[in-house]
Amino acid sequence: MKAAADDATPVPQVISEAPLIFSLSHSLALIDRSFGIDRIIADSGDEFVDSYYRQSLPGYSRLYNPWQCMHLPLHDGTLSEGEAFFAQAAEVARHLDDRPGQRVLELGCGLGANSLHLAERLPHVSFLGTDLMAQHVERAEAKARKLPNLGFRQASFEDLPEDLGQFDAIFGIETLCYANDPGPVARLIARHLRPGGHVVLFDAHRKPGFANFPEDLVTATKLYEITTAVARGFHDEGRWQEAFAAAELEVTAAEDVTEQTRAGLVRLHSRATKAFTERKWRMALRVIPRYFARNAVAGLVGYHVCFGDRVAPEVRRGPITYQKIVARKPTA
Ligand SMILES: C[S@@+](CC[C@H](N)C(=O)[O-])C[C@H]1O[C@@H](n2cnc3c(N)ncnc32)[C@H](O)[C@@H]1O
Repeated sequence: MKAAADDATPVPQVISEAPLIFSLSHSLALIDRSFGIDRIIADSGDEFVDSYYRQSLPGYSRLYNPWQCMHLPLHDGTLSEGEAFFAQAAEVARHLDDRPGQRVLELGCGLGANSLHLAERLPHVSFLGTDLMAQHVERAEAKARKLPNLGFRQASFEDLPEDLGQFDAIFGIETLCYANDPGPVARLIARHLRPGGHVVLFDAHRKPGFANFPEDLVTATKLYEITTAVARGFHDEGRWQEAFAAAELEVTAAEDVTEQTRAGLVRLHSRATKAFTERKWRMALRVIPRYFARNAVAGLVGYHVCFGDRVAPEVRRGPITYQKIVARKPTA
């Protein structure tokens, strides 16, 4: 796709007015005008997780939501905004009980919101959050000082230190998409789980037949992946279940919860439209750091990659699913 001339304003095709959802073709035209689709796609396969999270820190710590969650809220029609942001953490809590001495490990904990939330509510369980980024760990630690059952440590889930020991639950929310290869990571998780312990994963995956989806949806998905620094692309659906099974973990749930992301993605899309249509935001996009600015791209197309483009009625859903996967380490 060629970058449109700077002064060519695409004609808006609005799917829905309340809240505002632009069609996929209009969203792509806006992205092309501001960023150049080819320029973003050229980063595919590159490694820039570190730069992306460094530059995006102000957005995640101050703009996205008041709790510093770095993931999508899961709405089921009954939850408040705060409850929806902690729906993934609530699933982790379901795999813990009243026994004292239980230990939980969070992989890719970001700014610590999930572990902080759980540690405040489950004082008899001890939580350890780990993340690749030193800045994330420092900020999370600062919030946890008054909680004796919560600690943080810098570590990659690709290379978990042996001295972490074993845990009753290990979880990762929108972080294991960054794994180079699920196989070795699943083996490490299995090694660090106590018998009877659970791993809980929430993440986006490419549906089977991804490459055969309409070209605009495949392009939008690549834009979404690259602008959230998953530049190698989301793992294929089923890949984690295979990896857990190969690591001798028993997969007990693999649930498509994409529908629950709809409200959060609509809100992100609606916010992102401003970045492309309001003059002050369009000017700002030109001067703020590149990877931070590109979050507006993910915001604009996130809805379409999960739910398709209702302007084209034959495309009912997008090529991405958001899943909950749970696996258990057998006791004997
Ligand atoms: C989308 S954020 C999610 C953060 C957190 N799970 C949450 O729900 O708020 C992804 C996080 O994964 C971390 N990450 C990426 N690759 C990692 C790795 N190899 N090991 C540990 N953390 C990683 C990033 O630094 C970032 O904090």
